[in-house]
Amino acid sequence: MTMRWLMCYSVLFIVILCCVVHAQRLSPFDVRIDHYKTETTRDLIINTPRPRFSWKLPISNDPTQRNIQQIAYQLQLESIKISETDSSFKWDSERIASTQSVHVPYTGEHDLLPGTNYRFRLRIWTTMSKDPIQWTSWIQFRTAIFNLHEYLTTNANPLWIGSTQINMNELRKEFSVPNTSPVRSAIVYISGIGYYQLYINGYNVDPSRKLDPGWTTFEIRTFLTSFDLTSNITAGMNAVGVKLGNGWYSGEQLGVPSYGPPRLLFILNITFQNGEQMQVLSDQTWTGRQGSILRDSVYNGESYDARNDREGWTRPGFNDSLSAWIMVESLPSPVSDALNGQLVLQDMPPIRAGVDALHFETSVFNQNKEYLKASDLSGIKGASFTDGRSSVLKPISVSQPTVGIHTFDLGQNMVGWCRVKLRGLRGVGVYFRHAEILSQPLHSTGQWTGGIYTENLRGATQFDSYMLRGDPNGEIYEPTFTVHGFRYFQVSGAPNPLTVDDVECPVVHSETTLKGNFSSSNAIINQIQHNIQWGQLGNIMSVPTDCPQRDERRGWMGDAALSVNEALYNFDLIKFYLNFLNLICDVQQSNGAIPDVVPNGGGYPSDPNWGTALSTITWQLYRHYGDSQILSNYYDHVRAYVENIRSGYNNTGLVNLAYQFGDWVPPPPNPMILGKTSDTQAYSAFYQQLAEEFHRVFFNTTTNFYADGMQAAQVLALALPNVVPETARASVFTRLLSDITDKGNHVSTGIVSTAQLYPLLSDNGHHDLALQLITTTTYPSYGYMFMNPYENATTIWELWDAPSEGPGMNSRNHIMYGSIGAWFYSHLAGIDISPSMITIRPRMASEGKKHLLAKLNCQLSTLYGLVQISYTRDERDTVANSILMHITIPPNTQARVVFEPLFPNSHCQTLIEGDKVIWSANATTTHVQNFVVQREAITGIMTVHIGSGQYEFQALWQ
Ligand SMILES: *[C@@H]1O[C@H](CO)[C@@H](O)[C@H](O)[C@H]1NC(C)=O
Ligand SMILES: *[C@@H]1O[C@H](CO)[C@@H](O)[C@H](O)[C@H]1NC(C)=O
Ligand SMILES: *[C@@H]1O[C@H](CO)[C@@H](O)[C@H](O)[C@H]1NC(C)=O
Ligand SMILES: *[C@@H]1O[C@H](CO)[C@@H](O)[C@H](O)[C@H]1NC(C)=O
Repeated sequence: MTMRWLMCYSVLFIVILCCVVHAQRLSPFDVRIDHYKTETTRDLIINTPRPRFSWKLPISNDPTQRNIQQIAYQLQLESIKISETDSSFKWDSERIASTQSVHVPYTGEHDLLPGTNYRFRLRIWTTMSKDPIQWTSWIQFRTAIFNLHEYLTTNANPLWIGSTQINMNELRKEFSVPNTSPVRSAIVYISGIGYYQLYINGYNVDPSRKLDPGWTTFEIRTFLTSFDLTSNITAGMNAVGVKLGNGWYSGEQLGVPSYGPPRLLFILNITFQNGEQMQVLSDQTWTGRQGSILRDSVYNGESYDARNDREGWTRPGFNDSLSAWIMVESLPSPVSDALNGQLVLQDMPPIRAGVDALHFETSVFNQNKEYLKASDLSGIKGASFTDGRSSVLKPISVSQPTVGIHTFDLGQNMVGWCRVKLRGLRGVGVYFRHAEILSQPLHSTGQWTGGIYTENLRGATQFDSYMLRGDPNGEIYEPTFTVHGFRYFQVSGAPNPLTVDDVECPVVHSETTLKGNFSSSNAIINQIQHNIQWGQLGNIMSVPTDCPQRDERRGWMGDAALSVNEALYNFDLIKFYLNFLNLICDVQQSNGAIPDVVPNGGGYPSDPNWGTALSTITWQLYRHYGDSQILSNYYDHVRAYVENIRSGYNNTGLVNLAYQFGDWVPPPPNPMILGKTSDTQAYSAFYQQLAEEFHRVFFNTTTNFYADGMQAAQVLALALPNVVPETARASVFTRLLSDITDKGNHVSTGIVSTAQLYPLLSDNGHHDLALQLITTTTYPSYGYMFMNPYENATTIWELWDAPSEGPGMNSRNHIMYGSIGAWFYSHLAGIDISPSMITIRPRMASEGKKHLLAKLNCQLSTLYGLVQISYTRDERDTVANSILMHITIPPNTQARVVFEPLFPNSHCQTLIEGDKVIWSANATTTHVQNFVVQREAITGIMTVHIGSGQYEFQALWQ
């Protein structure tokens, strides 16, 4: 992390100089504005007056077309007139000669106006033809009210409303819209905290959107969201209804003081064709009641009494003779003036349930051939990730251990809830519990006695209940303001016999796109990858969480820092993490200190490995998206944090710096040791000083290794630049390797050093060992999580020894050990996406270990398009010691493909692309048919420089 920060410094400037790469063809696609994917974002709203655009160059169906680059682009942007009185705005960039296709700035003279509808389109010129590629279609978006807080507190003045008297969680208001002129626009801004759902004239405005708005430190930042309801408001009477939930605003949550009852802020602007306007605000004319939800809690689930359902309560003309609707009270704003708290537009994709939650840019079985067959992947336990069936899970089995109890197995540890079909008498109560695993007797006797194991949820009950209204046609229940982490779903008291067809469970997480796919001929690695992707998805719930099930689910910074690289390889999360960076900065103290947990931070100053989330996430976002603006935007915060660490260090020295979690949860019984106090770097001299001090303090000159010799100490010292003097490197490595051997080829590392161990081994001539460790299935190992006598993990455990540990801290879905997932992409597939050059360098196991990874297929969707690498060792029977590698490089980029020797001291004989020899050991020329091939004399490593296109390389080694 040290080096990363140093690099932040220089890259900040260098990146501005060196333009990103170039190329192109048909009609641009996957267009983004302000990082939002326009293809998948509905009601696209941006919160900046000067957006930036990205697009991908079209891909030809002709695989022979290569080296495609963009040479120019043209952007056109114009306002969409709402009323007769609006002025119109048009901007045309004209043809701009430029290779830039990502983060292209709007360069118009005038800022975009707030609260305005716009559309834009673009076209490009490429090296493929003289003519421009055809325009994209017009893409609509609208701008937010940029200074929302000021607008709401000075101009509009809606009230925060709710009740201190009753559990008021259904609020409604009717209003009349005149028919003098047609409605041309109806825009709503709403905040309902903890959670809200908005209904207009009887319909939920966005049914898949859940648990909105995102979680923040409410007193500093509270989110509003906005909807375009233009098609939904008509002349005459209209009605708005809002359901409120406690969410994270509730005092029930761990370690957070109660803020008070839920509350609503609402403002609807209706503009008519003739330019007239009207507003509907949250004010004291609204009424409310306790609706069907009697109780709701993030941790403890929800109680729902369907007898309280009032048909039509969000429609105009509703008249309720059965329940008491009372006037709302005006409640204080959640944001604190003293803390300069702000009402802010939520500027990231929302949490969604089901098919709308996950989009796809990659798939396992793509057009690109036969490298991995379905049968290679058929053994994976858990729900399939890439065929679109992963968004709503059906149980794979149901059992009835006792009369009146059904236990459903989803086959996958997931995050969300279940929808259940019930039929029975009015007032019958049905109870739902959620657990990650079955109760322990299975472990000892093999006979399951019917229980689910909920002890590891600790204080979170994850318990829902439903009281039937008695509909003879049946009724469907699904909870509204809670979320569960579980694989087993237990229903008690159902009045009707249930089958698997009566249950389906939407997967719930922040909306995102799957952008990475990694699969191989090794079943263990494939299962780990599966578990990481599911674990990651379950831990993006508006903030990166440590776990999704017990009474925690918090934004632990260490977990976020360790997983972010893996997360960004697998999912498109730029908006999500930018939001999280803002939440971190919200709670940064004036002395630069940041807490261990965000939002609602606790634990100042953070342990350095936790606090590093600020710089690590900033850096990884830059690395994965090539957007240097991210570095400059957070630079001051990172610097302040580094200075804070530095002053702590000045006071205490390295050994006693702050407090230390050390290397968290290594496999027992090994004690943990030193904290990795590495992220103290901003300045190289200071870093060097620390590096030397680290060595001085922890290196034992008698034994020639660090501390007491445990793996973590050696790994961290070796992984940090300049800590281990050259003269000591060999002995430290020897110690690390011998300790691994002594433990029967097992790691003894916790989360911090595990993240470093695998890249360290692969980069230092021990890739074979790294592969051996990752494919181990005996304790402790990743493989043990799903190859043990007790449980079949389908996500990543918190502890290496989960089955033998008590419930206190023993989640089956923690993402922190998922850090290894980055190594799958960066070393096994070998994809490095530095902003100016793609490098593909799959690390090679030697001949003796090639069976561990004989085939691999990896796709990574970048802002330029899909990067793909597939390889097969010794594919063509006639030639042993060969590798066949298929590579796809997206247009407008350049790549280096690096071939490592297939076995020690081997030499490349021939390098073939398609059916042409492009390099041969016998020939003197190295430039053949546009391929620039280099051979490194000492290592024998071969490098080929290529542009975009599809390639089939074969390298023969002797
Ligand atoms: C609003 O109108 C659109 C377009 O007619 C429709 O698709 C949507 O379901 C409506 N939403 C509500 C809440 O009525
Ligand atoms: C409502 O309309 C007024 C007048 O055009 C405008 O200033 C304001 O920003 C609008 N507010 C919302 C919430 O759209
Ligand atoms: C820490 O000590 C160094 C060297 O004495 C000094 O230059 C630096 O300003 C100090 N930094 C802080 C934050 O106290
Ligand atoms: C270094 O290792 C030796 C041999 O194990 C041990 O006796 C000694 O105490 C260690 N020194 C320190 C400073 O820990």
